[in-house]
Amino acid sequence: MSQDFEPKNIIVTGGCGFIGSNFVHHVVREHPGVHVTVLDKLTYAGNPENIAGLPEDRVELVVGDICDAELLERIVPGHDAIVHYAAESHNDNSIANPEPFLRTNVEGTYQLLEACRKFDVRYHHVSTDEVYGDLALDDPARFTEETPYRPSSPYSSTKASSDLLVRAWHRTFGVRATISNCSNNYGPYQHVEKFIPRQITNILDGQRPKLYGDGKNVRDWIHTEDHSSAVWTILTKGVLGETYLIGADGERDNLTVLRDILTVMGKDPDDFDWVRDRPGHDRRYAIDSSKLRRELGWKPVHTDFQKGLEQTIAWYTEHEDWWRPAKGATEAKYRAQGQ
Ligand code: NAD
Ligand code: DAU
Repeated sequence: MSQDFEPKNIIVTGGCGFIGSNFVHHVVREHPGVHVTVLDKLTYAGNPENIAGLPEDRVELVVGDICDAELLERIVPGHDAIVHYAAESHNDNSIANPEPFLRTNVEGTYQLLEACRKFDVRYHHVSTDEVYGDLALDDPARFTEETPYRPSSPYSSTKASSDLLVRAWHRTFGVRATISNCSNNYGPYQHVEKFIPRQITNILDGQRPKLYGDGKNVRDWIHTEDHSSAVWTILTKGVLGETYLIGADGERDNLTVLRDILTVMGKDPDDFDWVRDRPGHDRRYAIDSSKLRRELGWKPVHTDFQKGLEQTIAWYTEHEDWWRPAKGATEAKYRAQGQ
């Protein structure tokens, strides 16, 4: 069933993380009548600074765990929708210790779906292209909504599990749900454990960037602001029960991205270290987002990756106070892993 949904009071889980906080900024800026309750556990990846300064009458932060059913019983009634971003999101962490991924990504999604079922609240599930596994470098294909699930890592297998829960809760219990699977995001507020911020902050810190394996792995980059506009479009115009792939035609291999960063930052493009590869490292992701563009009229705006990368480098250069507190512990963890 198609819909034209105008939410006024939404919960954004994980709204103090990278993509969730960018979505909260997007909603406050673009949709003036909407109030946002951020539900966030403030794990190592959650930072209340990410939403600091937003108007208090528009955004409320509830610090809590999505697995806490009693908390959900208290806060979910009265909201029109839950947009679910909260997750353990980093592949390397899931290889070092999968347990929190099972709890937050699978059990947490289950608890949110149960709350939506009980209080008849619209649910949008933010997922990843990694549920589809990977593609060969020379494969002309891209992922579509029909591609079979074939996740490779503990992280992506828990995200795939959560997607399947959403489908079941929609079909069996009639939960008003949609799913989006997006490609690799970049932009402000991304944790320094992730590829682009890690390399930028290494260079700012006088350290050499670190490239896994042979550097030929391809990721399909999208500016996080375009991800936000796509999620809002699906929340308000999406067909219930449907899945939409989100992407901006941004395929690039890691070596090329790293050399771009080094060049923009005035360094020799070969001034980096090759380090131990990620076990099970997915080779290539590529998204065909034509369903979302054709059926809901969405399109990305930040299509100049080079410009977006330069703006992101400028943001990290100007916000050392934001990333500095997490940098030491993140690099210590990587050092212990030989990366
Ligand atoms: P992130 O790690 O930056 O942020 C995750 C947020 O969730 C943090 O604020 C954290 O405190 C919170 N959180 C974690 N466990 C929680 C719990 N049990 N209860 C409440 N809050 C909890 O993640 P991100 O990169 O912003 O990713 C957000 C979502 O988007 C995830 O679902 C991820 O799978 C998905 N996604 C990410 C990308 C990407 O490129 N980063 C691409 C596609 C999809
Ligand atoms: O595709 C969407 C996914 O993108 C999201 O679901 C994940 O939450 C998000 O973390 C991201 O996953 P990746 O594993 O692709 O992102 P990451 O930033 O960890 O790594 C990007 C690529 O860079 C990957 O091929 C591994 C490589 N890499 C990463 C780091 C941290 C390096 O070469 N060196 C590094 O130091």
